[in-house]
Amino acid sequence: MRNINTLAHSLLKPHLHKEAIAIDATAGNGNDTLFLASHCRFVYAFDIQKESEINTKKRLEAFNNYKFILDSHSNLTNYVKDSVDVVMFNLGYLPKSDSTIITKPKTTISALSQALQLLKPDGYLSLCIYIGHDGGKQEQEAIEDWLLTQTDIEVTTYQNDHPLAPILKLIKKRK
Ligand SMILES: C[S@@+](CC[C@H](N)C(=O)[O-])C[C@H]1O[C@@H](n2cnc3c(N)ncnc32)[C@H](O)[C@@H]1O
Repeated sequence: MRNINTLAHSLLKPHLHKEAIAIDATAGNGNDTLFLASHCRFVYAFDIQKESEINTKKRLEAFNNYKFILDSHSNLTNYVKDSVDVVMFNLGYLPKSDSTIITKPKTTISALSQALQLLKPDGYLSLCIYIGHDGGKQEQEAIEDWLLTQTDIEVTTYQNDHPLAPILKLIKKRK
């Protein structure tokens, strides 16, 4: 399998367009925000770390079609009132930074629920889940349990054979 982030981009790209509105729920170093801002009208980017804000703003120096929100994605609907075409979640910790600041099951599930509410019918949500770090497996299990309770989505899962390989889920909201 290709790098999980490259795969997420190539699966989402056909659904992005000049009028699309997107959410990057975990901005990190801004790679996904940059991808979304390059293909959409507007992107809301969330992260709880100041370092992420600095890195994302640097990465997107040439762009003004995004808003960085230094707050938890569990407060998504406090900031985003639009319905959106695409949402990206890239869980875990900020690469090359403090690996103890990680996404957590409770806030992740809350954010996913809010993201699904905001997602337009036929909209797509990508979810990269990492299970190799402390807490990763518990987060994955909580997500799997939560997904089983959702009736208005179709989920496709991508994972290679390695037991600790990251998992990509592409979620489509039904009409
Ligand atoms: C794997 S990184 C994201 C990588 C990023 N998408 C990129 O393209 O560089 C995960 C990010 O989630 C952030 N995070 C952790 N908990 C969060 C929360 N409750 N709300 C928003 N972001 C959170 C971390 O600070 C970290 O930057």
